[in-house]
Amino acid sequence: MRAIIQDAYGAPEAVLRLGEIEKPAVGDGEVLVHVQAAAVNGTDWHLLRGLPYAARPGIGVRRPRNRVPGLELAGTVEAVGKGVTTHQIGDEVFGWCGGAFCEYVAVREGRVTAKPANLTPEQAAAVPIAGFTALQAVRDRGRVRAGQKVLVTGASGCVGTYAVQLAKHYGAEVTAVCSAAKATMVRELGADHVLDYAAGPLTANGFDVVLDIYGNTPLRTIKRLLKPGGTVALVGGTGGPWFMGTDRWIRAMFAAPFLGIKVRPLVHKDSLDDLVLLRELIEAGKLTPVLDRTYPLTEVAVAIEDVRRGRVRGHAVVTP
Ligand SMILES: NC(=O)c1ccc[n+]([C@@H]2O[C@H](COP(=O)([O-])OP(=O)(O)OC[C@H]3O[C@@H](n4cnc5c(N)ncnc54)[C@H](OP(=O)(O)O)[C@@H]3O)[C@@H](O)[C@H]2O)c1
Repeated sequence: MRAIIQDAYGAPEAVLRLGEIEKPAVGDGEVLVHVQAAAVNGTDWHLLRGLPYAARPGIGVRRPRNRVPGLELAGTVEAVGKGVTTHQIGDEVFGWCGGAFCEYVAVREGRVTAKPANLTPEQAAAVPIAGFTALQAVRDRGRVRAGQKVLVTGASGCVGTYAVQLAKHYGAEVTAVCSAAKATMVRELGADHVLDYAAGPLTANGFDVVLDIYGNTPLRTIKRLLKPGGTVALVGGTGGPWFMGTDRWIRAMFAAPFLGIKVRPLVHKDSLDDLVLLRELIEAGKLTPVLDRTYPLTEVAVAIEDVRRGRVRGHAVVTP
């Protein structure tokens, strides 16, 4: 079968190639999914480069342990392994995996569930990873409640477009930060106010919660943005290749008591319960994936680079 193969770390166009690998066999407790769509998100670029270096023991020291990139998918169940009770051949599913940029993936049955009935496979593929991250940032780390004022950085990206909608769903007044070119799109998602990150340092204040999804807001700026005792959820990271800003999370947690704010970093968890909740919100019309473009399998490198360079509104999706 056709797959995108990565044998080294580096820039997308330098390390990704289209190749042929064996179609996977379905193991016990697994389903074989015929991939109809696989989404690209900000994390793919980091993984492709093997960043942060501190993660290399987990992802592969010299080269990626997992040769096929791609973290989330939608497709049709083609075969079911022994012991599988929740899926049948022909089911339309979406979920997460390792190695989605190919034609077929064998996935543990608890990593996929029924696709939202009102979404295309392309839209559904764009839900899992960014959806988990946004949901857990808003609900668990930000603990956003009705009536609160919430600021979302990176609001026009894969994670941010869900975070804006979810913060509105939980009843907040949302101020979104993104480029001027994407302000209208973010307003259409429900943001009450939109700020352009290129217009200078953020000077607004009085927020109960800051969701720092892009991850470059200095801690002193976050303190100024927040009400006393307010909460920042740290989601994204910009910084050196060793820690990609996660070192900032540790410094921020130590500084928090002295600054009189709560600092809560997020390492998202892949969760079937959360995927089901996201599906329910989507089917109830409370949450919509923002899908910009689809790319053929041959253009995965272009798609990852387009996401990285901000040329995509919301999500880019590959259709193997
Ligand atoms: N903690 C976790 O568990 C977790 C999980 C998933 C992802 N992440 C991280 O979350 C971050 C966002 O991921 P994503 O997939 O949403 O990325 P993305 O789709 O590339 O979105 C990036 C966002 O940041 C904005 N942005 C770009 N340059 C900026 C700048 N100089 N200043 C302020 N904002 C800027 C973009 O705005 P414009 O496009 O309008 O320019 C866009 O809204 C990444 O660092 C990713 O690694 C963390």
